[in-house]
Amino acid sequence: MVVVSLKGSYMVKPAEPTWNGTLLLSEWDQIGTITHVPTIYFYKSPPQEWLTPPDTIIKTLIDSLSRALVHFYPIAGRLRWIGGGRLELDCNAMGVQLMEAESEAKLSDFGDFTPSPEFQYLIPDVDYKVPISELSLLLVQLTKFSCGGISLSLTISHAVVDGQTAIHFISEWAKLARGEPLGVPPCLDNKAFRAGEPPRATPRFDHSQFDHPPFLVGQTSNVEERKKKTTIAMLKMTKDQVDKVKKKANEGQIIGSGHAYTRYEAITGHIWRSACKARQHRFDQPTALGVCVDSRTRMQPPLPPKYFGNAILDVIATGHSGEIVSRPLGYASSRIREAIETVTDEYVNSAIDFLKNQPDLTKFQDLHALGSDKGPFYGNPNLGVSSWLTLPMFGLDFGWGKEFYMTPGTHDFDGDCLILPGHGEEGSLVVAVCLQEVHMEAFKKFFYEDIII
Ligand code: COA
Repeated sequence: MVVVSLKGSYMVKPAEPTWNGTLLLSEWDQIGTITHVPTIYFYKSPPQEWLTPPDTIIKTLIDSLSRALVHFYPIAGRLRWIGGGRLELDCNAMGVQLMEAESEAKLSDFGDFTPSPEFQYLIPDVDYKVPISELSLLLVQLTKFSCGGISLSLTISHAVVDGQTAIHFISEWAKLARGEPLGVPPCLDNKAFRAGEPPRATPRFDHSQFDHPPFLVGQTSNVEERKKKTTIAMLKMTKDQVDKVKKKANEGQIIGSGHAYTRYEAITGHIWRSACKARQHRFDQPTALGVCVDSRTRMQPPLPPKYFGNAILDVIATGHSGEIVSRPLGYASSRIREAIETVTDEYVNSAIDFLKNQPDLTKFQDLHALGSDKGPFYGNPNLGVSSWLTLPMFGLDFGWGKEFYMTPGTHDFDGDCLILPGHGEEGSLVVAVCLQEVHMEAFKKFFYEDIII
């Protein structure tokens, strides 16, 4: 068991006065996952100059973070509920929480760094029992291990930033810590998503993607499935295995824009098939697969570079398990592509109008971390597969060198999957999967049996 003791806790505020006022949020900021998303970076022992005097690392982190927050000041603010399940962001410079901790554990105690319950001691705990208006939007924990190695974990509110913005912020923070000037400032103008505006038109598309995904056949709710114990696996894929899945997906007819199915479309299809098999669904079991689509380049005009916020729209690929499993892999990939290709400028605007017309957004929010079992559930018989393939998440250097390992924190909800670039071989991948314990072994078997090289 990893024991971690807290050495210090700091509320880091912007180094200079920042704009003070209410930032209206876009519809995307107020639906889906509005809780925090964790990541951890592990570093080998930093060079000697970082260790003497012993507080150089924490001082550098605090100083550079406070300077980064001058540019990214919304992150230093607080959310507040304004009724109807809606949120706004008070840019009040309350600051972000940075914790310093120590542990007798060694980096080698974490084995192959598969997220385990031990990780919870390395990731700042977000106390969702306190009112949201008191919660830091970013919490950071520096942990020093007895072997000299360190970890830096960050957990950041998905209501305020998505993966692209989170990585932009972290990499600019690291740049300032290295003594370099800010690279590209964030674009804090969220007009593209019509934040705070009334609806313009009635929605032009069907937005059943915001409805509850299907239940298991014979059940009228997901209450029982939500209670099941889950487990996480990090499934490595060599470049050859990735190529094999991609080739398999592209064996038949290709739909939509016509270009070959991408690694994401192919591997996500493969995950979907493996999950349907492992969960032993009936042939007629309806199943939904949630895809996080970055709308930045799909808007007309595309969003400005380094747009700050949450530009992710979740869309749903649907099917029946029997078909997903019995038809060739390309069928599952085609369902996924169809869903992704709905996301055009027109569609995004229609979805905005749809949400603006809703009297209450609560039913579209995933608040499980707040103890709620309302909101969409992408566990059995459904899945959600996010791509981190194109996020520049590696190589985070605060001055003492780049991490040797980076991993998402615990994504411990049934059906929650992530596809990440691999750590070693170029072109390799890691699929982080969380499933019910009873399904995991079968899932791994199906996942690998089709891609034996
Ligand atoms: N690096 C490498 N290849 C890139 C690239 C990049 N930055 N950008 C585009 N490509 C090329 C590659 O050839 C790739 O095909 P391959 O994976 O088969 O080699 C293809 O373009 C990928 O194009 P993309 O448009 O990203 O499609 P996709 O099918 O891989 O992914 C989505 C579909 C919907 C997942 C993706 O468009 C998206 O929106 N991702 C959002 C990611 C995100 O923000 N995640 C965090 C959520 S908080």
